[in-house]
Amino acid sequence: MTTIQGAHDAPPPTPRRGWFPLAVTRLEALTDDTVAVTLHVPPDLTDTFAARPGRHVVVRHRRPGAGELRRAYSVCPPPGDPDSLRLVIRRHSPDGFGAHAVASLSPGDVLELAPPSGQFGLPDTEVGHHVLLAGGTGITPLAAMAATALRDSPDCRVSLVHAVRTAGTALLSDELAELKDAFVDRFTVLYVLSRERRESELFSGRIDGEKLTRLLSLLDARPDGTTSFSLCGPAGLVETARTTLTAWGAPPELVRWELFSADGTPSEPEAEVTSSGTERHIRVVMGGRSTVVTMAAGDRVVLDPVLRARPEVPYACRDGVCGSCRAKVTTGSVTLGRQHALDDRDLAAGYTLACRARPRSDELTLDFDA
Ligand code: FES
Repeated sequence: MTTIQGAHDAPPPTPRRGWFPLAVTRLEALTDDTVAVTLHVPPDLTDTFAARPGRHVVVRHRRPGAGELRRAYSVCPPPGDPDSLRLVIRRHSPDGFGAHAVASLSPGDVLELAPPSGQFGLPDTEVGHHVLLAGGTGITPLAAMAATALRDSPDCRVSLVHAVRTAGTALLSDELAELKDAFVDRFTVLYVLSRERRESELFSGRIDGEKLTRLLSLLDARPDGTTSFSLCGPAGLVETARTTLTAWGAPPELVRWELFSADGTPSEPEAEVTSSGTERHIRVVMGGRSTVVTMAAGDRVVLDPVLRARPEVPYACRDGVCGSCRAKVTTGSVTLGRQHALDDRDLAAGYTLACRARPRSDELTLDFDA
């Protein structure tokens, strides 16, 4: 899974909060360790679960003795069925949910999902060329974005670069090949294999700044406002691409990005919040309702007390990656730990992440609806 980042549009309307049981209707093994899971959305939830490409949903599951676990997955409908709620789940997830999904899920099983959220996606402004760069499972939102751009914008071109270890591990390659057949003049897909030698050195090995610049030239991408760039994958690839695009002159508002992990880097454990001598109160605004919570001994980040009083608070990774717990600080201030989900403009606008924020003032207001 996932998370969310740069060059955001205005925040989407306040999402409907809560958890919804949805039944699995179809399972399709994509590789040995990856399964595509399609869920049934009943008619009364169609609007709630409508997702523009790039959004993600959070799946909640509970196991005896393991408490409640949450994982975020991009909504990844097949190209021919854009309204389908399909998730691509890999076996390897730290909490065991991926292994459970790949090995044990069956049609008829019910998963609990929060409605789609996040701000990654195609830019609202029309551009003539979308360049999409995916690393590994980062292909899932980008495949959906490619299909949507090609279908909805008849004059645009889409170029997709997928960095994977080997050709056999490239997710959704069959669907992308079909998309290529359908939009042969407007869609380009390039694979760069890090552990398989290809005829051209350009398509072998890791993507660094120099290789990316050559790929952009090959794709006739231009940093002149006519091309948008969407990046999704591990932190190393996304950071390399962002740095390269910035140096290359790509307009910041046309570079959008999302992380699928922090490259497995474990978070620095947050220390408990030390006493300031006075109680620290947090007013939480969520779903139009306001609740005041108090930091207690043992709390490390503001998400801890918020969860006690408002268990519907959105969160997934608890690692500053997915962006699900994004909220606006409207009074008071926080210290934000290492995070990958907010860009400079988010921070300047006052947004923070409840899973990585610690109060700096004794009174704080967090607006999750902003
Ligand atoms: S960024 Fe994922 S839960 Fe906070």
